[in-house]
Amino acid sequence: MNVTGIQEETESEVDQEINPCAMLLVEQDIEDTAAKDELLVNLHSVKSNVVIRQLPSQGISFKLWPAATTLVSLLDNHNNTAFSSLFDPTSSSPLRILELGSGTGIVGIAAAAILGAHVMLTDLAHAIPNLKFNAEANSKMIGVNGGKVEVTAMAWGEEKQMEHVKGKEEFDIVMGSDLVYHDHLYDPLLRTLRFFLLGDQVNKDRVFVMAHSKRWKKESVFFKKANKDFHVEVIHRDDPRNGDRVGILVCTFIAKNNKKKKVEGANDNQSN
Ligand SMILES: C[S@@+](CC[C@H](N)C(=O)[O-])C[C@H]1O[C@@H](n2cnc3c(N)ncnc32)[C@H](O)[C@@H]1O
Repeated sequence: MNVTGIQEETESEVDQEINPCAMLLVEQDIEDTAAKDELLVNLHSVKSNVVIRQLPSQGISFKLWPAATTLVSLLDNHNNTAFSSLFDPTSSSPLRILELGSGTGIVGIAAAAILGAHVMLTDLAHAIPNLKFNAEANSKMIGVNGGKVEVTAMAWGEEKQMEHVKGKEEFDIVMGSDLVYHDHLYDPLLRTLRFFLLGDQVNKDRVFVMAHSKRWKKESVFFKKANKDFHVEVIHRDDPRNGDRVGILVCTFIAKNNKKKKVEGANDNQSN
């Protein structure tokens, strides 16, 4: 499906709500909260478990969202899924991944463990202590295949913070799950994608992989804006679950003047 398809789909959907209580961010010391919630996720491909601390009472950055589990599952089966053409198993150097809005960090941690990738987890400053906690809790498992995880605060669109992250590492792939929800975040997120995927010169190899939970019609605005700079293609679609009308979508964003890295199996009928 091309981006016009995504736009039409999002426009025709009935709006769903994110739990408004969970959207309120409470500024508290994470270590002091009593509401600890540990989650164990099995990664079949590496015969290990990821252990994730959630602190749902602290807000949206502290809980695992369904789109993240979709990405983890695709990573865990990356040889047989839409992901197979994104990762080059013959490459001698580790894949370098930047994750945006990491939340609990499960996607980046799983990617590091499964792919032996070097991963930079990023999120707003208040989410960093819990991200570091989760990275540390899984450090042994992450290292088995040569994986590495770093954690850095980075607010989307904040030039200095983005420069700081870019200065640390070159990235092959940018990833994220459930990042398109509040409309005031569309432009900062798009600025971030342009910054890391387009840069001064278009890097021919970079791709942004995003798992998306569709909730509101207004999300079509994000995809319409993204389509100005990127080819957006749906490479995977979950069946709807838990009474949802639509399943999680996984899309790739590739700079428009980069014809090199089309994802095999994805439709190629772009609108322009
Ligand atoms: C719905 S949560 C998804 C978390 C995680 N990716 C997942 O799927 O479980 C959205 C994430 O984006 C982060 N976020 C929101 N606005 C942001 C911004 N301006 N800059 C960086 N991260 C942001 C939030 O802190 C939160 O962790």
